[in-house]
Amino acid sequence: MCTKKLLFLWFCLCLIILCLHVTTAKEDEIVPSGTRHLLVKRAERQTFISTEFGQVSGASASDGNETFNVQFITLEPNSLFLPVMLHQDMVFYVHTGSGKLSYKDEHKRENVTLERGDVYRLESGTVFFIQSDLDPTRQKLRIYAIFGNVGEDLREPSEYGPYSSIRDLVLGFDEKVLKETFKVPDEVMEEIISGRKPEAIVHGLPSTKKTMQDKEIEFIESIFGSRSTFAIFETINKDKKKSNLFNIFHEKRDFENCNGWSTTVNQKKYSVLKNSRYGLFMVNLTHGGMMGPHWNPKATEIAIVLQGKGMVRVVCPNLPNQIHCKNERFEAEEGDVFVVPRFHPMAQMAFNNETFVFMGFSTSTKNNHPQYLAGKASVLRTLDKHILATSFGVNETTFDRLVNQQGESVILECTSTGTGQWPRMGKKNPEEVILTLSSKAWQTFP
Ligand SMILES: *[C@@H]1O[C@H](CO)[C@@H](O)[C@H](O)[C@H]1NC(C)=O
Ligand SMILES: *[C@@H]1O[C@H](CO)[C@@H](O)[C@H](O)[C@H]1NC(C)=O
Ligand SMILES: *[C@@H]1O[C@H](CO)[C@@H](O)[C@H](O)[C@H]1NC(C)=O
Ligand SMILES: *[C@@H]1O[C@H](CO)[C@@H](O)[C@H](O)[C@H]1NC(C)=O
Ligand SMILES: *[C@@H]1O[C@H](CO)[C@@H](O)[C@H](O)[C@H]1NC(C)=O
Repeated sequence: MCTKKLLFLWFCLCLIILCLHVTTAKEDEIVPSGTRHLLVKRAERQTFISTEFGQVSGASASDGNETFNVQFITLEPNSLFLPVMLHQDMVFYVHTGSGKLSYKDEHKRENVTLERGDVYRLESGTVFFIQSDLDPTRQKLRIYAIFGNVGEDLREPSEYGPYSSIRDLVLGFDEKVLKETFKVPDEVMEEIISGRKPEAIVHGLPSTKKTMQDKEIEFIESIFGSRSTFAIFETINKDKKKSNLFNIFHEKRDFENCNGWSTTVNQKKYSVLKNSRYGLFMVNLTHGGMMGPHWNPKATEIAIVLQGKGMVRVVCPNLPNQIHCKNERFEAEEGDVFVVPRFHPMAQMAFNNETFVFMGFSTSTKNNHPQYLAGKASVLRTLDKHILATSFGVNETTFDRLVNQQGESVILECTSTGTGQWPRMGKKNPEEVILTLSSKAWQTFP
């Protein structure tokens, strides 16, 4: 009896300890709902493919709610990225070099030339391959891509991420089916089946003596052709309209002054982005330039630094579901990826001695109107002055001075304080007043 009681007591004690443990563990868990990973440095990228002829690496950044996968595809001159099939929507930007993209989707089969500044989108289910030119300047072809669309399964089923090798897909069938399908001589099919899997990126020029690889490429090209009876490769080709590649450098800029410029590409400008989740933007800030504080009411931005170095400030707006969020400030340089979540006021500024150029993908292809704190389009001009002045804790006269001194430009100037210094925020320059007060505004942001 007594031992039973003792046992029971022990049991209770254990239960209490267990409960305590569980509660403390719960408390720990509350902190991040998803971990925010706003900045991914170049060195933190994951390498998926690395051959003599090219590389593919990826970065996964997160706004705490969603993870965004960005890939960097680099081809040496005269190289070939072998055909893959996309499992997800892909939007990409050509950073350097030139080449040719060949693809086949539900509607058409097309070859498009690629050059610096081009933007393109491929829908999930598309089969594509990319060849880089033998450029006289020996520039590598560099492509920056983002994947995913609304409602797509974002798990990554294959070894390189959101696409899989077409060879693997085809050779997944057994020999009999393949022979039946392709109607090629037995020895060809046997050679192909027993052939070594080529690397994902190979040399582009066919050599005089046909290697196994060339045969594979020919085979794969034949799949692209109408010879194939595979339904997914059937050439429908009813869309006869000419290839509508879009180049970000040929576009009218949204803002431009001595401090830099910015351009956005949305589906209004570029119909290929219709039904895509992403639009694009590019910002070039000259020495000491700053993209004025603003936020996106409808979009999260995923940016890649193309050139130079700068500082990014992201303010935490205390949204109801953002459990763990704080104001952040980080340096970003060439090759880094940074995310600015929706609703978060941000400002990007260049070092005084360097330009800061970045392009990126924005999760809204329409109806996102960035809200600027300063300038003619300032949100502070559209709201009731008295109430705003009260929220800043100043009188209307002072508030007027804040709002009205700033001119038109959204790209503001940060005062130089000599080379190699961060832009300082002093008191004399009216633009600096804007900066100082804006940061106050950030703090008092509801
Ligand atoms: C969180 O992600 C989902 C999609 O995964 C999206 O619909 C939702 O708007 C996002 N929430 C915020 C606050 O961005
Ligand atoms: C694309 O280019 C290849 C040669 O590189 C050619 O064989 C093929 O017919 C072209 N396809 C289209 C649709 O222009
Ligand atoms: C950005 O602007 C600077 C200065 O105007 C220019 O030298 C540089 O080439 C530009 N960079 C890009 C990527 O356009
Ligand atoms: C507003 O505040 C400023 C600074 O505190 C002061 O100089 C100014 O006289 C005030 N104006 C009015 C109309 O009260
Ligand atoms: C700019 O200044 C920073 C800090 O002094 C230095 O690290 C960087 O190398 C400089 N960049 C250039 C292009 O001179």
